[in-house]
Amino acid sequence: MFDFGLDPFVHLERLLLDAKNRGEPEYNAMALATVGAGQRPTVRIVYFKGLLRGGLSFYCNYNSLKGKSIDLNNSVCANFYYPTRWEQIRIAGRAYKLTREENEAYFKTRPRLSQLGAWASNQSAEIPDREYFQLRLEEFEKSFEGQEIPCPETWGGYHLIPEEFEFWFGRDGRLHERFVYQSEGSNWRRFMRSP
Ligand SMILES: Cc1cc2nc3c(=O)[nH]c(=O)nc-3n(C[C@H](O)[C@H](O)[C@H](O)COP(=O)(O)O)c2cc1C
Repeated sequence: MFDFGLDPFVHLERLLLDAKNRGEPEYNAMALATVGAGQRPTVRIVYFKGLLRGGLSFYCNYNSLKGKSIDLNNSVCANFYYPTRWEQIRIAGRAYKLTREENEAYFKTRPRLSQLGAWASNQSAEIPDREYFQLRLEEFEKSFEGQEIPCPETWGGYHLIPEEFEFWFGRDGRLHERFVYQSEGSNWRRFMRSP
């Protein structure tokens, strides 16, 4: 039985932890929708990297398609889906850049190859072929040899500050249950939606 009395962040953390504990594949992968130039929507999967200052954090290149879209319009929507339990969690809100200190702290925890990739990849830009990228990677590998790799200025995170949560539980006959929290100042308006 879903407990509407609980804070939505508590539900989010519990559902993710349950998903992790039961071995749900990619339990922290969320689809992230943005709206870019010309009001065109795009969606892609990113890893949720924890709650940070009241928002859901994720990291990417700030010049990527999603980064440029967020620059134009920071209204975003994320969705987690757990097929083994027939659950989905949708979170709509606004994305804000993390601080340089937060980006650097997270960057330090990444494997060296991912750090090199952040330098080599001008994420979402057109490239001539795979060899072009491979060469860039090798160049950065050489130039950082024996050194700690710093966080590129163009790389970092956002946190999605929720304005609405929807917790969806699949039920037989499409009689699903949908529990909604909508932000109203410092309170949440709680209601259900028809399946
Ligand atoms: C499971 C999974 C996790 C991913 N995690 C990230 C991530 O945390 N950050 C990221 O920038 N891209 C991640 N990607 C790649 C994105 O889906 C996407 O290809 C990339 O961010 C470029 O998106 P854009 O061109 O729309 O900006 C992930 C892909 C998958 C399948």
